[in-house]
Amino acid sequence: MQPLALYIHWPFCLSKCPYCDFNSHVRDTIPEARIVAALRAELAFEAARLGPRHLASIFFGGGTPSLMAPESVAALIADAQSSFTSDDSLEITLEANPTSIETAKFRAYRAAGVNRISIGVQSLDDTALEFLGRAHSAAQAMAAVEIGRAIFPRTSFDLIYARPGQTLAAWRAELGKALAVGLDHLSLYQLTIEPGTRFATLHGRAAFTLPDDDTAAALYDTTATIAAHYGLAAYEISNYARPGQESRHNLAYWRYQDYAGIGPGAHGRITLSGRLLATRRHRVPEDWATRVETIGNGSVAEIEVTPDERAREALLMGLRLAEGIDVKAFAARIGHRLATVIDPAILDQALLAGYLETTSTHLIATAEGRKRLDSLLAALVI
Ligand SMILES: C[S@@+](CC[C@H](N)C(=O)[O-])C[C@H]1O[C@@H](n2cnc3c(N)ncnc32)[C@H](O)[C@@H]1O
Ligand code: SF4
Repeated sequence: MQPLALYIHWPFCLSKCPYCDFNSHVRDTIPEARIVAALRAELAFEAARLGPRHLASIFFGGGTPSLMAPESVAALIADAQSSFTSDDSLEITLEANPTSIETAKFRAYRAAGVNRISIGVQSLDDTALEFLGRAHSAAQAMAAVEIGRAIFPRTSFDLIYARPGQTLAAWRAELGKALAVGLDHLSLYQLTIEPGTRFATLHGRAAFTLPDDDTAAALYDTTATIAAHYGLAAYEISNYARPGQESRHNLAYWRYQDYAGIGPGAHGRITLSGRLLATRRHRVPEDWATRVETIGNGSVAEIEVTPDERAREALLMGLRLAEGIDVKAFAARIGHRLATVIDPAILDQALLAGYLETTSTHLIATAEGRKRLDSLLAALVI
């Protein structure tokens, strides 16, 4: 029986951050009862077709799931636990914004079963937080982290770096402060300009400039070095953890294991009767809810992932991980040899250049390779 990861999408935020292209929506009044009822219906729909599975993780992502009432979170966790088998190692993560509205609910989320909190701190610099359009100060964010740490067995937070004008020295100091908190996990993202966001418009008008490629590369390198100094390994391109404290849920994506995704815009990859299905839900919350209410699920399209596509997806995911790809497990899961989707000449070049390496069991993108993974993959994967 394949382990299962469950993703639950909460599609609302209090305001839209200018850099963010996640499926998040701002409403005067959030129709929570309706959305929770539809999420529960979709969970029942997935459980019925998946059958008996061992649930390894649940992830409440968003949007801002910390806007949910703890009772809503508790109901979904209870549904998931009664639909699938699980044990004490079940990881239940909730993404939270660090304002007082959310921290006031942390204890109730813990009582609901959440055992890992991931807080969107984004920066420890108030000017940068303003630039990022955040509704909290650095002090508020760090207070939320302390509250999280006192309540949850596992706490992580997100920072965005490689911001306009950010010097290496400034980032070193900010990251040092973040690591000195002493958590077991951090997500450290380089700022990307996503199409359709307010930052895309501003950047298009040259209202700000991002660090050039060399500076971005230096920022990336220094991030891994300083994190390692504090005992956190770069286990994925943007994720750092003490050994054993990696996000099990996110590892399921990168190891290309089954995950069910429910809620507006959620994606999933689930094995049904030996076929791997790519699932996707309507993005607009109200349209999605209407579909769930009429036909029991909010799916847009469900297509079987062909062996070639599976191999490509697994490569794209697996090479993000420092551990790389377990070649034997890959063949078993994909029903395909790795070699069939890799350009052999590019592979040789990448091995020679030190961007990729092979062991007796794994294909691995080195730290240098992970730094330029997008262009490496674009050339490598056929
Ligand atoms: C779904 S979001 C956030 C969780 C929560 N709503 C919050 O804002 O605190 C997940 C994370 O992705 C990161 N992120 C989103 N857009 C980004 C971008 N354009 N560049 C870099 N990081 C980004 C942020 O660090 C954010 O916390
Ligand atoms: S970063 Fe978080 S709070 Fe901001 S719009 Fe995206 S999901 Fe919402």
